[in-house]
Amino acid sequence: DWTMGNVIADQVAAIREQVGDKQVICALSGGVDSAVAAALVHKAVGEQLTCVFVDHGLLRAGEAEQVEKDYVASTGIKLKVVDAQEQFLGALAGVTDPEQKRKIVGREFIRTFEAAERELIAEAGAHGETVQFLVQGTLYPDVVESGGGTGTANIKSHHNVGGLPEDLQFQLIEPLRTLFKDEVRQVGLELGLPEAIVWRQPFPGPGLSIRIIGEVTADRLALLRQADAIVREEMSAAGLDRSIWQCPVVLLADVRSVGVQGDGRTYGHPIVLRPVTSEDAMTADWARVPFEVLSTISTRITNEVADVNRVVLDVTSKPPGTIEWE
Ligand code: XMP
Repeated sequence: DWTMGNVIADQVAAIREQVGDKQVICALSGGVDSAVAAALVHKAVGEQLTCVFVDHGLLRAGEAEQVEKDYVASTGIKLKVVDAQEQFLGALAGVTDPEQKRKIVGREFIRTFEAAERELIAEAGAHGETVQFLVQGTLYPDVVESGGGTGTANIKSHHNVGGLPEDLQFQLIEPLRTLFKDEVRQVGLELGLPEAIVWRQPFPGPGLSIRIIGEVTADRLALLRQADAIVREEMSAAGLDRSIWQCPVVLLADVRSVGVQGDGRTYGHPIVLRPVTSEDAMTADWARVPFEVLSTISTRITNEVADVNRVVLDVTSKPPGTIEWE
């Protein structure tokens, strides 16, 4: 019968059979799909798997640490971390166009991941081993839709769309191909992954770069991270994590408005809250977050985040608005 325990046992057997004594690599994004896919493969072939985490500096507060520490501690997975924060910031300098940001992040990600791949292949070769497999966290809806829409596909599918140099030939391992998101979460829980990863709400591949309206800079990222952390903290405290699909927090970096704080006049940036409910992200409605929660968030952000003097709520459904602002 179809229980997650059986799914795990079946996949572990199938992966062992497929991989044999070869080496496997997997890119971790910080999201639930790649985390669960890698954990399944690790359960099957242990040390033959090496994961690569490209820290592009566009994740939210604490998320890189969750991957580098909590995830590794709970799985025992061999992880190679590439700190590419300066590289991504450099590549994004001066860029304000949303699609341009997506392209740059996708391109730099592929570049960085491939460099890491080459290093791993060279290291394995020095030990007389062959790297032959690549893990992907493809879900059943991805299979059905086959590359529909968002940039997830850009990053996730670069290996099957000819983005690979010709001398690198991988076979794909896609252990989540028959599963829906909620089943993937069940598998993750059964494998003992941290709840913060298993229950993570959707987060775009280009990360915070598309939540800063304007140029992406280190200072702006730090500011947005701080505001976002407050929003997540208060949403969690209010028990809203499972009822809200996601809540982008957006910095209008090129907009300033006048405010007053203490004795002084301020001229700071607005932060936009974009909490939505949704079934599949194709359509969405703005979430009716209780006023008290919004009030706490607003007070905390304007008190705690320097240079932010206004918090506004996005009450647009999708369509016409998209979930993200860029
Ligand atoms: P939109 O803004 O199109 O977002 O309503 C729909 C869902 O997709 C996510 N999203 C992305 N995910 N790369 C991703 O991996 C992207 O470039 C991207 N853009 C949007 C968004 O967070 C929402 O869940």
